[in-house]
Amino acid sequence: MNAAAVVPAAGRGERLGPGAPKALRELGGVPLLVHAVRALARSRAVTLVVVVAPVDGTARVRALLDQYGLDGHDGTAIAVVPGGDTRQESVRLGLAAVPATVDVVLVHDAARPLVPVDVVDAVARAVADGAEAVVPAVPLADTVKQVGPAAAPGRPEPVVGTPDRSTLRAVQTPQGFRREVLLRVHEKALLDGVDATDDAGLVERYGGSVVVVPGHEEAFKVTRPLDLVLAEAVLARRRS
Ligand code: C5P
Repeated sequence: MNAAAVVPAAGRGERLGPGAPKALRELGGVPLLVHAVRALARSRAVTLVVVVAPVDGTARVRALLDQYGLDGHDGTAIAVVPGGDTRQESVRLGLAAVPATVDVVLVHDAARPLVPVDVVDAVARAVADGAEAVVPAVPLADTVKQVGPAAAPGRPEPVVGTPDRSTLRAVQTPQGFRREVLLRVHEKALLDGVDATDDAGLVERYGGSVVVVPGHEEAFKVTRPLDLVLAEAVLARRRS
């Protein structure tokens, strides 16, 4: 198997509060992006990581990755390309830098710095074993309610349904794809003007099949300030 990973890291991450772009925020003194790239490079399957950086921050990101000696480490090459206005555009631009010799492409958010290598391996293996698209996922702790529009601004939203929790999963990254499948759905989405929050969603939209492998609670996404507190605690436990 020859796998490449695309890491969209061109977002600002404003929900985390003011400061540096989210991918460059530090966890245990090391940028989230560096953690995420290391987690991918740890997988034997991954030979190339394409980091998609903010357009005005490409040189800075390249210098950062070099500072941590990531290029060539663990037998994994690192490329840095400029991103786009949306996550989807950033992934498409990253995918364009993946050579045709690669058969499996993983897409991993820089905002999931602590994903265990077993999850990365399981996703890549499931694609190599024949799936066209694979997502790691975990059961939900919370019951989920579907809500409708409020009767008037400022009024509470009415609950309109309660999906059966046992059939729901929270989806993480890396998501894995056969390269040509991911290319095809991104090309179609560009032509159709479709914007999706995750890549597997594009595969579903265009009639492909997506399967689930077990995710991991430590692969959570660092979105809000509390997530950073939790991530620091997980890292401290790993280091002790
Ligand atoms: O905003 P959100 O947390 O959903 O972003 C998910 C990932 O997509 C982040 O790693 C972010 O840096 C990336 N992204 C990007 N280009 C954008 C917007 C988000 O690469 N224009």
